[in-house]
Amino acid sequence: MLPSSADAGGKVILLGEHFVVYGVPALAVPLTDARTTVTVEPGPPTLQTDLEGDHRDVAERVLRAALKLVGLARPPGTVRVRSDIPVGFGLGSSAAFSAALLAALVESTGQVMSVDEHNRLTHELECVVHGRPSGIDDTVVTRARAVRFVRGEPFRLIRPSAPLSLVLGSCGYPGPTRAAVASVRRWADAHVARFGAILEEARGLVDAGQAAFEAGDAEALGPIMSRNHALLREVGVSTPELETLVSAALEAGALGAKLTGAGRGGFALALSTPGNEDAIIAAFERAGAHHVLRTTP
Ligand code: PMV
Repeated sequence: MLPSSADAGGKVILLGEHFVVYGVPALAVPLTDARTTVTVEPGPPTLQTDLEGDHRDVAERVLRAALKLVGLARPPGTVRVRSDIPVGFGLGSSAAFSAALLAALVESTGQVMSVDEHNRLTHELECVVHGRPSGIDDTVVTRARAVRFVRGEPFRLIRPSAPLSLVLGSCGYPGPTRAAVASVRRWADAHVARFGAILEEARGLVDAGQAAFEAGDAEALGPIMSRNHALLREVGVSTPELETLVSAALEAGALGAKLTGAGRGGFALALSTPGNEDAIIAAFERAGAHHVLRTTP
């Protein structure tokens, strides 16, 4: 066994969460500010992690599945996990853990793995954690690039022609992805015509948002993010705390703001003009944000 170490960042959904489940495209970017590192060191074949309770059980399950995928009967040494991506807050913590774990295990055997293989195996581990995830998290996390993602279709890598500055503020409690997806389904069933119109509008927003993103046009992208948030609020996945964070960011001069990920908890995401990040961070903190992060796709 070779000592090994690998790390992976998280992901942030810029536009299209929830509606992506119904075939609308979504855009997601890497989270550069928070990462998960997995090392394999000589020692007893155990998992060392700060995770507790259910989260620890899930990590153990992922480790067993990962060992099987890479053809190992047991951990080649002590598998140590360090992460500053909050778990269950919609930032891709499980995909980052799976991606870093696979890379560290493969490296410890002295083998190499292509990015496509890494993405495929990480998706398999995401299925162990989430059942039937759309695949957006494992794609962004293993490529460490912004993507346009359509369920069931090949993803497309996208690139901003000028860096964009994003600030995230946590509402303090996690967002229950499965329950949020199910609640949107119930809302859609109860409001069939309106939901159809929302999907249509969401598709237009993602297409326009992609053009703005690729052009590095933050002034155009901001209002698109805010409108996307209004649609997410309408289908019931915002919360009073997320509303407070979104309003605080806009009042502090953010070009746009929205919830990101499943909602009903997790993080609000704001698009900053260059140099205004500290004002948005201060506004998030005054509005009760428990944790603030930044990323620059
Ligand atoms: O797990 P989260 O918070 O990143 O949210 C997942 C995004 C959804 O669109 C709500 C679900 C999915 O599988 O794409």
